[in-house]
Formats: sequence, C-alpha cells, structure tokens
Amino acid sequence: MADNFMVSGEQATQAAQVRLMDCPNWMYLLREFETLYRYGSAGGSKLIRSHRKRVREILATVIDANPELKRKSPQTKPVSVHLPRALDLGERGAVQGLARALSRISDQLTWEYGYERVPRALQKKYAYCEILGPRGPVYAERLVLGFVLFAPKTTYPQHSHKEIEESYISVAGAWSENDVAVHAPGSLILNRPGDEHRITTADLEPCLLAYAWTGPEARLTEPGMKLSSTRKARVAHGI
Ligand SMILES: [Fe+2]
Repeated sequence: MADNFMVSGEQATQAAQVRLMDCPNWMYLLREFETLYRYGSAGGSKLIRSHRKRVREILATVIDANPELKRKSPQTKPVSVHLPRALDLGERGAVQGLARALSRISDQLTWEYGYERVPRALQKKYAYCEILGPRGPVYAERLVLGFVLFAPKTTYPQHSHKEIEESYISVAGAWSENDVAVHAPGSLILNRPGDEHRITTADLEPCLLAYAWTGPEARLTEPGMKLSSTRKARVAHGI
C-alpha cells in the first residue's frame, strides 16, 4: 500500500515537471543570450572568440534538449530596489533585447549573495541571480548564465574564480574592472581562470551585468566563491 502510494506520488512529480519550452519567457531570455554570444564582436581577440563560441555552442545544445526548469522561490536582496532602474536603462541601451526579456521574468528571480560571509558594506550593494547551470533554474552541466546587480557607487572587492572562465556583458550602467577602462552597455569583458578582478560602478546609476561561466561541472556547482584577502589584493595591485 505504502509502495503504491509512493509510485503514484512519483508519477505525480513527473507529471508536474516543468520544461523550458513550457516557459516561453525563460526560453526567449536564453535565446537573447545566445544571440549576444553569436553576433557580438570578439574585438579581434582569439581568446574571446573561442569563449563566445564555447558559450553559444553549449547554450544551443541546452536549449535543443528542452531541459527541466526547476523553479526556485523568488528572493530579493536589498539591492533589488535598483533593478527597475537598471532595466529601464538597459531597455534603451545596446543590450535592450536581453534587458526586456529579463524584465518579463523579473518577479521570478532568486537573488543571492554567494558568499558565506558577505562584507557588511556589500550587503546593500550587490546580489546575483542564476538563470541556467548545474543548480538551475534551467538545468545545464557545463555552463552557468546569470546576472549581477550593483547599486550606484559600489566597490566589489578583488576576487578570482578557480578553473572558471568568466565573461561579463554590460547591460546597464557604467563600470570599471581593475581601474583599467570604463565599460558601457554592450561591452564584453573576459576573466580567465584565476584572473584577479575588482569592480567599481558609477556614482549615480546602478549597474547590471550578464555573465557566463564555463568550466568543469563540479566547479560550476560549487564555485567556492571567496574574496581575496586584503593583503593578497594589495600585493596584486602593487600597493
Ligand atoms: Fe567575477
């Protein structure tokens, strides 16, 4: 009797399983990502060209497979109050297709910190949400796609990602990495595994970045995000 009950429960779960094609707004958002990585320029960089290719090829395979979409419970963080403005800016910029598609599911996003201990100064200023990856919501093994949102005038401390290659595409706002350049909507920035990077954002507007991570599944599942120690960060900056 108990077994019968379990079987029928399992069947019910299977019947309730939601797939990507059941959620067109999620599918359109992934197609916008795919378009960006397919048609954007590599600026003559072989490394960026191969990163773009890797991201779009994995993504195309994932979309074709119509994977499971595991809805997480929506969650906001203090920085979420800046999301409407970031989307407004994004919708009039170079990456408007992605900004519009994101706005269609903005009430379904799960914003997180990703660190066990978040520096107090950062708690109101930053959060990220995953769209696709080993942890969902859209299941994929070898790729993570998501968005990171910063309040105006944020410094995101120095960090790096072990075994993970990361690209950011600016959606809204102006920002800088390692004090090297100012990036505007449409720009792509590549951080290779282990590259130390520190982000600052403009004084008056929020900043929204789309990101893609490629790397081994185990690492994408447990990225072990860690901010670099202050001393290490100083040494890397030659301060
Ligand atoms: Fe990063």
